[in-house]
Amino acid sequence: MAATLPTSFLLIMALFSCLYPMPSHSSDPDPLQDFCVADLTASPSVNGFPCKAASAVTAHDFSSAALSGKGNTSNAFGSKVTAANVLAFPALNTLGVSMNRVDLAEGGLNPPHTHPRASELDIVLKGKVLIGFITTGNVYYSKVLTRGELFVIPRGLVHFQRNVGKGDALIITSFNSQLPGAAVLPTTLFSAKPSIPDGVLSQAFQVEESVVDDIKAKFGS
Ligand SMILES: *[C@@H]1O[C@H](CO)[C@@H](O)[C@H](O)[C@H]1NC(C)=O
Repeated sequence: MAATLPTSFLLIMALFSCLYPMPSHSSDPDPLQDFCVADLTASPSVNGFPCKAASAVTAHDFSSAALSGKGNTSNAFGSKVTAANVLAFPALNTLGVSMNRVDLAEGGLNPPHTHPRASELDIVLKGKVLIGFITTGNVYYSKVLTRGELFVIPRGLVHFQRNVGKGDALIITSFNSQLPGAAVLPTTLFSAKPSIPDGVLSQAFQVEESVVDDIKAKFGS
């Protein structure tokens, strides 16, 4: 019977619905069953993978050694991210959680990146690490953390981790998504295939195209 309500009442209702924060649904959808160990051989559907037959699931499916090995940090960034997402650990399918380990050599950097589908909670297990993120309003929040300390990165925001201590550092990062995704800004922009036109990047960063070419060359593009 909304048509019979006074316009002023409807306007007030509309105003209140804007003022009250809506409950947030920012993680993966809830599962519809106890477990759904992913059948990675099937094509991904819109949301995750089909389930392996329950009769074929064993205790072995629910454990993983995906993060047990130290990542090889002998590369330009001095860092290595090892993922325990649904692709590495199929039992995470539909459960809305995953983890990475981030190994950082002395001075190593996990370069600025975003996870489009998850917030991230980090715990430093070894070393001294500068972790920072930037809001969509361009405010930079950061902290130097040591063993046992936590830092949270809100979903989708650009962030990085840098080893600022002596020796190696190790961080475990956890996500409220089985497959958080990562857009690593330097590689996204400078080693996309096919390549982003030089003119776009030189205009975006206000530098000569030769500078863009230099950066692209460093990423093998
Ligand atoms: C680490 O990576 C470097 C560069 O790719 C490679 O030369 C080296 O053999 C790797 N080390 C190990 C232990 O795999």
